[in-house]
Amino acid sequence: LRHFLTTEGLPASLMTEIMDRAAQFLGDTPRDLRKLPLLKGKSIVNLFFENSTRTRTTFEIAAKSLSADVVNLDISTSATAKGESLLDTLKNLEAMGADLFVVRHNQSGAPHFIAQHCTPNLAIVNAGDGLHAHPTQAMLDMFTIRKHKGEFANLKVAIIGDIRHSRVVRSQVHALAGLGCRDIRLVGPGTLLPRQGLAGTLFDQLRPGIEGVDVVICLRLQNERMDAGLLPSEAEFHDSYGMTLDRLAWAAPGAIVMHPGPINRGVELDSALADSERSVILDQVTNGIAIRMAVLSMVMGVKMEALA
Ligand code: CP
Repeated sequence: LRHFLTTEGLPASLMTEIMDRAAQFLGDTPRDLRKLPLLKGKSIVNLFFENSTRTRTTFEIAAKSLSADVVNLDISTSATAKGESLLDTLKNLEAMGADLFVVRHNQSGAPHFIAQHCTPNLAIVNAGDGLHAHPTQAMLDMFTIRKHKGEFANLKVAIIGDIRHSRVVRSQVHALAGLGCRDIRLVGPGTLLPRQGLAGTLFDQLRPGIEGVDVVICLRLQNERMDAGLLPSEAEFHDSYGMTLDRLAWAAPGAIVMHPGPINRGVELDSALADSERSVILDQVTNGIAIRMAVLSMVMGVKMEALA
């Protein structure tokens, strides 16, 4: 695996290897993270041109758990503000000995552009680009689903909310379809459903969208990526699409509730459900460390046997 940029077109065998590796890092219990010096001597730079809590922090924990040296470039105080280009920033950081860049950018395609133009010595991992992709989020979501619900072929999965502006959905749908999930439902108001090109059945009503599903994934309204004219009021959105404990009864018995975060409580998800035993949201966060350890070790060429 040279770079990790998207889940689109990834073979099921590769996604399975990422999840199997992650399981090895988690050890016996979810919080019992194994620390292995597999990336000792490697330098990883976190380049986050957009805000992040979970992704940036879990990449840092993952890299440090593998004994890599980690630099978090503070973009707000960097020479980017003086007009330095993305590629020039990278070249300078490479001259300082960087081996791998973890990149989040508000421009769709920015990590792919870097991957096409960087030297062969560098690896790029996409930590979320514009409306396009968030592949490590999708892989930690697949890992969480597999852990709680088993294999994908017979699962019913509903993703609810602002589908149109979500890079997470795009990566989740590619991963779900690639892993054999045949019942993917995309649920939301017509203005926030995708226009074209995404696998899954569209529902503009919540109840038929989630009836009988095993997994409910809630999404926030992506206000920062939306035309103001499309934005429903939070109260309207909650009335029609907000997930509550009562509404979860429409799903299959034992259905789990997921959310990539950050949650807007009382909008897409009620606190009583977010904090209930049906929610695996914080498990997703923990699993994110293990998935990112798996991805970092794979792009750095570490063989599975080294984890034994
Ligand atoms: N899920 C996610 O990408 O969260 P952050 O924006 O906090 O990284």
